[in-house]
Amino acid sequence: MSKFKTLDDLGDVTGKVALVRVDLNLPMKDGSATDVTRVEAIKPTVLELAERGAKVLMLAHFGRPGGKRSSVLSTSMVVGDVEGVLGKELMFIPEVAGPVVEQSIGILRNGDIGLLDNTRFWPGEEANDADFAKAIAAHGDFFVNDAFSAAHRAHATTEGITHHLPAYAGRSMEAELKALDAALGNPQAPVAAVVGGAKVSSKLAVLENLVGRVQHLIIGGGMANTFLAARGVNVGKSLCEHDLTDTASRILDTADHAGCTVHLPYDVVVSKEFAANPPSLRTCNVHEVAEDEMILDIGASAAVALADVLKTCRTLVWNGPLGAFETEPFDAATVALARTAAALTQEGSLISVAGGGDTVAALAQAGVTGDVTYISTAGGAFLEWMEGKELPGVAALTA
Ligand code: 3PG
Repeated sequence: MSKFKTLDDLGDVTGKVALVRVDLNLPMKDGSATDVTRVEAIKPTVLELAERGAKVLMLAHFGRPGGKRSSVLSTSMVVGDVEGVLGKELMFIPEVAGPVVEQSIGILRNGDIGLLDNTRFWPGEEANDADFAKAIAAHGDFFVNDAFSAAHRAHATTEGITHHLPAYAGRSMEAELKALDAALGNPQAPVAAVVGGAKVSSKLAVLENLVGRVQHLIIGGGMANTFLAARGVNVGKSLCEHDLTDTASRILDTADHAGCTVHLPYDVVVSKEFAANPPSLRTCNVHEVAEDEMILDIGASAAVALADVLKTCRTLVWNGPLGAFETEPFDAATVALARTAAALTQEGSLISVAGGGDTVAALAQAGVTGDVTYISTAGGAFLEWMEGKELPGVAALTA
């Protein structure tokens, strides 16, 4: 892993202005956040800087306002939620640069925290405009990026600003980069990857990257059906991208040459309709799926075989559920494998890193959120990292 500076490399910050990029893109309902995990993630960095006497100015985007102001997408919408988690009052500043920001900094005392408005209200943010980045940077003494989940965007407040100020990784960014390095950058082999979810098309680049880097690739969810179809299995009316079976075959060939074993289920849970505990529910061999049935989860025997695979591995990286886990009983294989991964991690034989919204929800459903090595709350950034891409926001910290 390339080296990056952390808060440990900062000297005395008393009275200095810290511009801290955070991700406050929170899921909202009726005016308040339904999940504050991202705020909890930035809490150590923000409070540490405040306790060390800096004036902390948080920079964040919120939704996709497309370069113009929108009252419902102002970061003022999340002030209450952020104050609740931080346990401190915030000063909301309805700009990101200029005299209003300057005056606000004058009012803030050492250790106070301010929140600037949605960086995406200005077109310069997404365009990574150098003048815009410079105008924001002019208010700070140093820059801290604690928003891994926005690091796949080369924007003014994730990348451009690092050309104008000394840049440091925040505590959450630091933990994320270390965990990801342990999972794929510099992992202990054998490495297993679980890739699930509905569509092969959305994770093609992930699969292509992983087959060359891991020893075991476990494919689940709807995407497993496309791979089964590529192997000549009749998947009935299962979700399946039939136009991608050639691509799936090519990935299987590449895996073969690279010494990566691809695990596809040999028994599956099927039903004629997609509903909770449907009357037509049954488990069968993959070769026995009827024309009017759909595959909704991996079968119990395949799940046991996958647990045995994990027992031989030292590292696991997981993105995507194995079945239609939001609907019972199609969460069974995901929950079982998550519990195995958690138990092996607790025993000390496995480093387990998971990421992505559905995966975080699936691990929570299995009751193992606290028992895996690291859970990334990043969505797009986690996927791009799994694709092997360099993330501009991370590259800017390590340049
Ligand atoms: C996210 O919610 O994944 C991040 O905040 C990035 O948001 P974006 O996809 O709008 O860039």
